[in-house]
Amino acid sequence: MSDLFALDGRKTLRDGAVLLRGRALAVDRALLDAIEGVVAQSPFRRMVTPGGFQMSVAMTNCGRVGWVTDRTGYRYDPRDPETGAAWPAMPDIFRTLAREAASDAGFDGFAPEACLINCYEPGTRLSLHQDKDEQNYAHPVVSVSLGLPATFQFGGLKRSDRPMKVPLQHGDIVVWGGPSRLVYHGVLALKDGEHPLTGGRRFNLTFRKAL
Ligand code: SIN
Ligand code: FE2
Repeated sequence: MSDLFALDGRKTLRDGAVLLRGRALAVDRALLDAIEGVVAQSPFRRMVTPGGFQMSVAMTNCGRVGWVTDRTGYRYDPRDPETGAAWPAMPDIFRTLAREAASDAGFDGFAPEACLINCYEPGTRLSLHQDKDEQNYAHPVVSVSLGLPATFQFGGLKRSDRPMKVPLQHGDIVVWGGPSRLVYHGVLALKDGEHPLTGGRRFNLTFRKAL
């Protein structure tokens, strides 16, 4: 383990942003089963940006509201526009893990209503962006990685700030809040690979207090 890491696998990326190495490993199978349950109700789909581009990441949501984009803009919606029904409930295992990871990172009392589930296949990328569609920024973002590894780009508060490259592995959790809440971040194109639990895919769970 590099000397950038404390013995518990915690790495501070910048003020308010922490990488918790392997924090989700103990519940990895339960998380993947729960993703399957959500997807059975609200399938993955590639949404369209307000500018008319189809996103390369396939997404779905669970929780009281879900993040969606279409030609009219970005928003949190209590309904899945594809099915017309409410989003699947947030599984308890998601809620608990998000709360505990936030607390480990110094943000107590995290109670997200929204969990965006991202599905990446080789070649899929997510360009640099801020998470700023939430009602307030007092709460952190908690981001869980499962399956194939990826390179996370973690920048600054200006788009022009050069992002650091953070390798994310199966089971890693990144939490960013406080002075880091609005940092630009993204994911480089996923490399080919095979993961024993997810095959040729990477899943990401992004928890936010949206309301
Ligand atoms: C996101 O920014 O919504 C996803 C980040 C990730 O996939 O790790
Ligand atoms: Fe994001």
